Formats: sequence, structure tokens, C-alpha cells
Amino acid sequence: ERGGYPHFMLKEIHEQPKAVRDTLRGRVSDDLNRVTLSEIGLDEEQIRNIDRIHIVACGTSWHAGLVGKVAIEQFARIPVDVEIASEYRYADPIATENTLIIAITQSGETADTLAAMREMKKRGLRVLAITNVVGSSAAREADSVIVTWAGPEIAVASTKAYTTQLAALYLLAVHFGQVRGQIDEATAHEMIEALDNLPQVVEAVLDTAPQIESFAQRYAHAHDTFFIGRGIDYAVSLEGALKLKEISYIHAEAYAAGELKHGTLALITDGVPVVAIAMQPDLYEKTVSNIVEVKARGAFVLALTWVGNEDLEKAVDEVIYLPKTLPALAPMAAVIPLQLLAYYAAVARGNDVDKPRNLAKSVTVE
Ligand code: F6R
Repeated sequence: ERGGYPHFMLKEIHEQPKAVRDTLRGRVSDDLNRVTLSEIGLDEEQIRNIDRIHIVACGTSWHAGLVGKVAIEQFARIPVDVEIASEYRYADPIATENTLIIAITQSGETADTLAAMREMKKRGLRVLAITNVVGSSAAREADSVIVTWAGPEIAVASTKAYTTQLAALYLLAVHFGQVRGQIDEATAHEMIEALDNLPQVVEAVLDTAPQIESFAQRYAHAHDTFFIGRGIDYAVSLEGALKLKEISYIHAEAYAAGELKHGTLALITDGVPVVAIAMQPDLYEKTVSNIVEVKARGAFVLALTWVGNEDLEKAVDEVIYLPKTLPALAPMAAVIPLQLLAYYAAVARGNDVDKPRNLAKSVTVE
């Protein structure tokens, strides 16, 4: 049942090219000029009228939402708030009749996410669910649904559900951008071509597994570790830190790279591992200067950057090179080594990878 893999998590990590491909299938036109998402049940006028989007979710799905925010704001120019469902539901959120609620939930059964959906539906707002389970409560209760086609996810730590959520959010961002006239035809084509190419990107990144496995041996003894990045790389850092905590039990924190010097730099001492994500060309120089700051305090640095950026090797201890894609799509590539790092660190520490302590796959308590 694990298809020859020692754990479901590793199997599911390797299923990501297929999961992403299945989620994109039928939703991009053959000429790669248009995104089709008729299932969202919004006509062009309704899409043009959206004044704000609230994304609500928990955990890894919330992290996918943070990436979605950047893509939707950049491509469609709609302001997006990304809220933790257990906070949002009690926060008396400010919304207008043209605010679209997007609930992201792999299982479709997370109690707080469902409660947030119900609260906003009661107020007459339109709720779109992004879920991996067709017959789930979220799918039944939402006004419309984008199904992610990750297939069943068995390991408690979410991997392929996250990358398919990213695919769904990218599709939505391009679709909204096209309908609202924010992206011209040539740019749309370039974006859709890049989306269509994501399964190959993920496939290529999976080839870094042996390098990450051997790096993880040197890393697995850590007590505290930091993940840093800027912009959308920071959103991925949060996911990398969560995955590591969840299954390896190593304490990890994610920081917007520029924020470190406002206090946390005090914790960077000799040998403290730092994972730096530098996938945004516009922010590259700034991220490198943050890497130099932590190196100067003795940090042991693993960097993720795009192929061709060999310069970074001089500044850090180890570099993982990822295929170049549109900067907004980089999380799809960058998250893979972080999942693998968490996995191999957990294996090195002898943990029960698929069933981490204290955690359940579906969180139906509030
Ligand atoms: C972490 C993880 C959790 C879930 C969260 C929400 O690896 O799996 O953080 O993402 O419990 O679950 P869903 O998406 O089912 O609502």
C-alpha cells in the first residue's frame, strides 16, 4: 500500500508531480491562453465586483493561503486577508456583500474552518471551498468548490495537499486577473505556460532528495532552527518550519528575513542551523545580506536558490538549486526540499514519521 516507500509521507511527497498535474488538468486551455474554473459559479460581472477576499484555513492550508494572497494580489489586484480560522470565527470580521470567502481545507472536516464558513454564510456571504475530499462537509456546505486532486493523503503531515492547494490558488489568481483585465494576453500565456510546467518543476526538484538526505544527517541533532525568506519565500518558510516541528520535533521558527535583526538575531550563535530561501530575484540582494548577518554569528546555513546562482555557494554551507520558474510560482519548487528535510530529519531521529505524537489527521475539535 505504500508503493515500495518506507512511509506514506515519502510516497506522498513523490506523488506531487501527478497530484499537481491532476489538479491543473481540464482547467487550462490546450493553447495555454485561458484558465477555466466554471465550478466556482461566478460570472464575469461577479468576479469584477469582488472588492476583497478573506481566505480562512488552519495549519498547512493556512500557509497555502498566504501564498495564494500574494498571487491573487499580484495577478488580480484584489486585496486579500488570510486568516486563521480559529481566530477569524470569533473576530467579528469586517466584510461587504462583495467580499468573497475562500475556505481552504484538505479534509473538508476541520471544525474551526467549517465554523468560520458557517458564520460567513449566515451573514449572506459567498463561500468558495478548496478541498481535497469531494463529499466532505466543506464541499457540501460551500456555495461552490474547487476540488484538489491530490488523492488520499494518509500521512498526518500534509504534503501533496499543500502543493495542489497552491495549484488551485494559482489558477484562481490567473483567472481573476484575466477576467478583471489585470493581465494582458501575452502575460497570461506566459503564466499559464509556467503553471502547466509546474509538475515537471516538482519532478526535477525531487531529484535533490539524496542531497537533502545526507544534509539531514548533519542537521538532525539540532535543538533550534530558523527558516528565513522574504515575500512569498517567507510564506514557504512558515510551512518548512511547521513540517519540521511536526514530525522531527526540532523546534523551528520562520522569520521574515528582514525582521531577524529586530530581536531574534540574539538566538543565532555558533552552529545554529538556518534554512534560507532566496527565490525572489527582486529581493535577492536583501536576502543575501540577511544570510551574511547570520553567517557572521556562526549559523550553519542551507540555502535554496535557483539554478545559475552559484555565487551563493561562497556565502553559505550548502546550496540546493531549484529550477527557475516565475517568482510567484517558486513556492511550488521551494517547499519540496523543506518537506524532504523534515522527513529525513525525522527518520534520522527515529520518529514515527506518518503518525507524529499528539496529532490527528483531521482536527474535528475546536
Ligand atoms: C500539517 C497539517 C495541518 C493541517 C490542518 C488543516 O502538516 O496537516 O496543519 O493542514 O490541520 O487541515 P485541513 O486542511 O484538513 O483543514
